[in-house]
Amino acid sequence: MKNVLITGASGFIGSFLVEEGMKNGFTVYAGIRKSSSRGYLTDSRIRFIEFDFSTREKVVETLTECKKNNIRFSYIIHNAGLTKARKKEDFFNVNCRNTIHFIEALIETEMVPEKFIFVSSLAAFGPGNPETGEPVRLSDEPKPIELYGKSKLEAEKYITSLKDFPWLIFRPTGVYGPREKDYFIFFQTINRGMEPYIGFKKQVLTFIYVRDLVRLIFIAISSNHVNKAYFVSDGKEYPSELFAAITKKALGKKTFRFTVPLFIVKTIATVGENLAGLWGAMPTLNSDKYNVLSSTNWRCESEPLYRDFGFQAEYDLEKGVSEVLAWYKREKWL
Ligand SMILES: NC(=O)c1ccc[n+]([C@@H]2O[C@H](COP(=O)([O-])OP(=O)(O)OC[C@H]3O[C@@H](n4cnc5c(N)ncnc54)[C@H](OP(=O)(O)O)[C@@H]3O)[C@@H](O)[C@H]2O)c1
Repeated sequence: MKNVLITGASGFIGSFLVEEGMKNGFTVYAGIRKSSSRGYLTDSRIRFIEFDFSTREKVVETLTECKKNNIRFSYIIHNAGLTKARKKEDFFNVNCRNTIHFIEALIETEMVPEKFIFVSSLAAFGPGNPETGEPVRLSDEPKPIELYGKSKLEAEKYITSLKDFPWLIFRPTGVYGPREKDYFIFFQTINRGMEPYIGFKKQVLTFIYVRDLVRLIFIAISSNHVNKAYFVSDGKEYPSELFAAITKKALGKKTFRFTVPLFIVKTIATVGENLAGLWGAMPTLNSDKYNVLSSTNWRCESEPLYRDFGFQAEYDLEKGVSEVLAWYKREKWL
């Protein structure tokens, strides 16, 4: 039986990757930290390995131990990452430096897998042109607009510069699904009868449901494709009003709709960042977040997924939102 190591296995996407790996008949190694919750990793078939990616030496130690125990990974999905950080440097340390330590250690211990999948993000390229409305394409020059995206791009640059290293890079757009905590805030807000918008310009969003994303990654693992990068979305585009309308319909709610002008959001972000900066911290609403919230074109090309993997999303937003809301209700989050 082939095996797969999934890092960041304790998180939202990671826990679904673990389930998909088992569904596809792999022996699954969940790469976690000492402090990670195992709340979504309760299947007795899961094998655990604790990693500390903070130095190359520590990763070498862990991999050497694996080798001694005859554990070799056919595939690795490096999904561990930070999407939010308390300090600016955390993004680079976790998303970029840790990735470099990991890969250097794999090379040093001669544990390079048949394929190394890096879970990057659309944020590494940034939004599309707001004037033309064109989707972000693989041939475009990356223009990340926040530290998170910049740190993912730096990691990508390192990976793609390697010789004889079998990588695949996936850059998902917004991922939603059960267990997810950020889009949940939006669903909760609508459920409370409020429908906020930021700025008066129309925003176009793209999504991928977590079950589709993990299914795609396992199709890619078994394919012949290597040393290629892909954006991942469900292939559709959704004006922000449509996202709200789908959610309202699924929840059976009427809402009070209001718009917060961009200059107010920008002022709060700037003041908050300056104050928090005195303690070396980053507030939730910061200038990076402002850049993301004020971007209007999050289209990205998804055709290469169909061309290379025959992948078509099984979930559009309507189907995904209805499933995810049912989960939030069942789990009493809503
Ligand atoms: N969610 C999205 O919309 C989205 C979109 C595009 C790309 N992505 C990427 O998908 C990946 C997973 O994101 P997610 O949404 O599932 O986030 P998540 O729920 O926060 O999970 C992040 C995972 O990374 C682990 N991690 C964080 N810092 C680490 C460190 N220093 N060392 C080792 N492990 C660490 C976490 O471990 P602990 O449980 O121990 O904290 C957790 O297992 C990330 O790389 C993210 O950039 C997410």
